[in-house]
Amino acid sequence: MSAEPKIRLRGVEKIFGEGESATVALQKLDLDIQASSFVTLVGASGCGKSTLLRIIGGLDYQTGGEVFANGKQVTGPGVDRAVVFQQYSLFPWLSVTQNIRFSHLLKAVRGDSTSTEVEAASGRADALLNLMGLASAANSYPNQLSGGMQQRVAIARALMPRPPVLLMDEPFGALDTQTREVMHDLILHVFNLEKSTIVFVTHDVEEAIYLGQRVVVMAPRPGRIDSIHEVALPEKRTQDMKLSPEFIAMKRDIVERIRETSGMKTDFELLEKLSRQASL
Ligand SMILES: Nc1ncnc2c1ncn2[C@@H]1O[C@H](COP(=O)(O)OP(=O)(O)OP(=O)(O)O)[C@@H](O)[C@H]1O
Ligand SMILES: [Mg+2]
Repeated sequence: MSAEPKIRLRGVEKIFGEGESATVALQKLDLDIQASSFVTLVGASGCGKSTLLRIIGGLDYQTGGEVFANGKQVTGPGVDRAVVFQQYSLFPWLSVTQNIRFSHLLKAVRGDSTSTEVEAASGRADALLNLMGLASAANSYPNQLSGGMQQRVAIARALMPRPPVLLMDEPFGALDTQTREVMHDLILHVFNLEKSTIVFVTHDVEEAIYLGQRVVVMAPRPGRIDSIHEVALPEKRTQDMKLSPEFIAMKRDIVERIRETSGMKTDFELLEKLSRQASL
């Protein structure tokens, strides 16, 4: 018998608006995500990836169905589920260290933490600073950092309270290719160290395969799961795997599914006919 999944979605539905203008962002969606697994969600724009992630994070509510995380029904945000968005959303008036320690500083201000806890938090903040390669920027402010560094601070801050579940919505979407590759290896390293459960949204298929143990392809109108692809790559990923036949074949399959489900399949015959007519 398999263990209770870390995240369980049953018949999840999300409808925005009413009547004629209603959008079915998610329709009767079932998904189990096992503990300590890395699952990536891909799909055409508007297929409900962010909506699904926000519902798991308790930042939005489903209009039907049930969501469980860590064995409990999700009724709102919780410290057991950290969320990282594309926008770095750091506090500009706090230094890197203060941003990372924010949740613990709040507890200390409220008088909710013991001196041992404060000490432990300080040790963890230092460890995360080192892990993220931010030690030399500890006292800098967000506006003094590059995009990649800001996102590393945001990830460190999310990891600080040791959340069992880490939810990421296109966290590297604003970064250049080289920085993204560095971030990919970093997040995989973090995943191996912390053994958290990661749900990672992206529209970059290569990113989804490189990071994920399973790639969930979603389809739009109505938002739903189209297919789930097990990634048959060695656990320890290296950038050169992207050139392997397995990787390329999987990428082709997934891109094809996304094209097909989004209705964006290119009709080459029609294009040819049109261009002949227009004597292009
Ligand atoms: N607050 C909202 N009010 C009304 N409709 C919304 C709202 N949020 C999302 N939607 C609609 O729900 C659908 C799913 O949106 P969502 O943002 O989850 O898609 P996505 O897969 O994350 O897209 P993208 O890849 O562009 O980020 C879309 O049709 C969107 O227009
Ligand atoms: Mg989105």
